[in-house]
Amino acid sequence: MKFFVDTAEIDAIRELHALGMVDGVTTNPSLIMKSGRDIKEVTKEICDLVDGPVSAETVALDADGMIAEGRELAKIAENIAIKVPLTWAGLKACKVLTDEGRMVNVTLCFSANQALLAAKAGAAFISPFIGRLDDINLDGMELIHDIRVIYDNYGYETQILAASIRTVNHMTEAAKIGADVATAPPAVIKAMANHVLTDKGLDAFMADWAKTGQKIL
Ligand code: G3P
Repeated sequence: MKFFVDTAEIDAIRELHALGMVDGVTTNPSLIMKSGRDIKEVTKEICDLVDGPVSAETVALDADGMIAEGRELAKIAENIAIKVPLTWAGLKACKVLTDEGRMVNVTLCFSANQALLAAKAGAAFISPFIGRLDDINLDGMELIHDIRVIYDNYGYETQILAASIRTVNHMTEAAKIGADVATAPPAVIKAMANHVLTDKGLDAFMADWAKTGQKIL
């Protein structure tokens, strides 16, 4: 499973990138707002750092506006994936931009039918929002599973980009189901390294090592 980082914080992306953990980056208007940065400037910085797809989201609500904004965002770098919402206008924009040879990430997906439409419209990525479904007592992972089955039934090449990931368990489950990509906040990716038995085992090793009186360096 590829890891995308769901943030516009350049320092956090740089730290994970240095460890080989970053196959791409996703941003959205809320993440740009949180970063306090200019969308074009920060997106360019991210694209200079990361080779994989970097999603930048349009904000127009009509198809023509999304297409124009998408073309403008795509000028930032070769690896821009234009993010459009899963509305009828977004699907129209997806088809036009895809036909121009651009990568499109269709976002705010909450149903398997929406994902089917995005694949038909040629999306490179579909972004089902797991956490926001869980928030309203629905099952975000069931949606990832349903999309996986449907895409595999018909050989759609649209990649399932599990989004709105909030926990380390979301990462495990998305990987088990076979999501192509998971995009997660940096804190979730870092938390995947944690295990209480690792900490406990390390404490015991350190205590025993101290008793030997030895040094390696
Ligand atoms: O990738 C979409 C993501 O940013 C949404 O996450 O936690 O705001 O639902 P969240």
